[in-house]
Amino acid sequence: RRPLRVGISGLGTVGAALIRILTEDGEAIARKLGRRVVVTAVSARSRSRDRGVDISGFTWFDDPVALAKSEDIDLYVELIGGEDGPALASVTAALERGTSVVTANKALLARHGTALAGLAEKCHVQLGFEAAVAGGIPVIKTLREGLGSAAITRVYGIMNGTCNYILTRMGNEGIGFEECLRDAQDLGYAESDPTFDIEGFDTAHKLAILASLCFETEIAADQVMVEGISRITQADIKVAADLGYKIKLLGMARKVEDGIEQRVHPTLVRKSSAIAGVDGVLNAVALETNHVQELLLAGPGAGGEATAASVLSDILDFARGGHVPPLGVPVAELDPCQRAPMR
Ligand code: HSE
Repeated sequence: RRPLRVGISGLGTVGAALIRILTEDGEAIARKLGRRVVVTAVSARSRSRDRGVDISGFTWFDDPVALAKSEDIDLYVELIGGEDGPALASVTAALERGTSVVTANKALLARHGTALAGLAEKCHVQLGFEAAVAGGIPVIKTLREGLGSAAITRVYGIMNGTCNYILTRMGNEGIGFEECLRDAQDLGYAESDPTFDIEGFDTAHKLAILASLCFETEIAADQVMVEGISRITQADIKVAADLGYKIKLLGMARKVEDGIEQRVHPTLVRKSSAIAGVDGVLNAVALETNHVQELLLAGPGAGGEATAASVLSDILDFARGGHVPPLGVPVAELDPCQRAPMR
């Protein structure tokens, strides 16, 4: 079979890691799929920045929209970030042209996910976003394909690696908030604007996407109640520890009689609980269904390698063929997301 030609926009931590993995694992991927996956074109803010990967062999585009519309790619990978701007313009352009898209952009999906999923269906193409929620954990795949007919009643978890890293180090080492945040930025975990991490918005974006898949509703990030971790002090962590708890930033959504309740806030979790053991940059997503008591998926939640591995899993799914609706069921079958009163 002919090679799959991939165009990538955005060459930050994740984009550079993706190029490295595709280069290093090229032979293994070709053996697995029976076809090669090759990057043919790239676009980023700076052409000359040193990213530790050689991009000289790829066609360069200054404009991601032009790359997304290029006839020389079979799949467009959007790693630019941001809920509007070039990310939205390029993803829309690719889908309208009939080119499938893989994105890691949770902010984009939180705001436009239902519309983009509808556009992908209308244009008979794929929209993959495994990397948008919980970094390296295959949670979207699990929700789309892995639970049979089980109905999910509640989803909750640690969905921001930066916050979990900060809270873990503040607790274990007594280090101050600011220093922990700087380290998280240096390690490539934080968003380019870390307010999204520490004020809980990134978790809210991911929760809204998960809630849509869990409850077959439209994505409604504006309905999430959000409080971040910027006001958590060492004293809070110590008092919690003395009482037998850890503080975690949790995203939680559940289906109640009168709608969907979505909330993000610092939460006390008992030290003996499974989720309390999820420390550092790890994320965990717990799913409660009517068939399985509780499923806990845990793994790396942020960082170039882990996130790129999830992007790659979408690329390989596309290369194999097959089709699943982006939000699990066709957009026309989604219910509106009825906001439940907070109790
Ligand atoms: N800034 C995000 C986090 C990256 O810390 O979890 C992964 O989405």
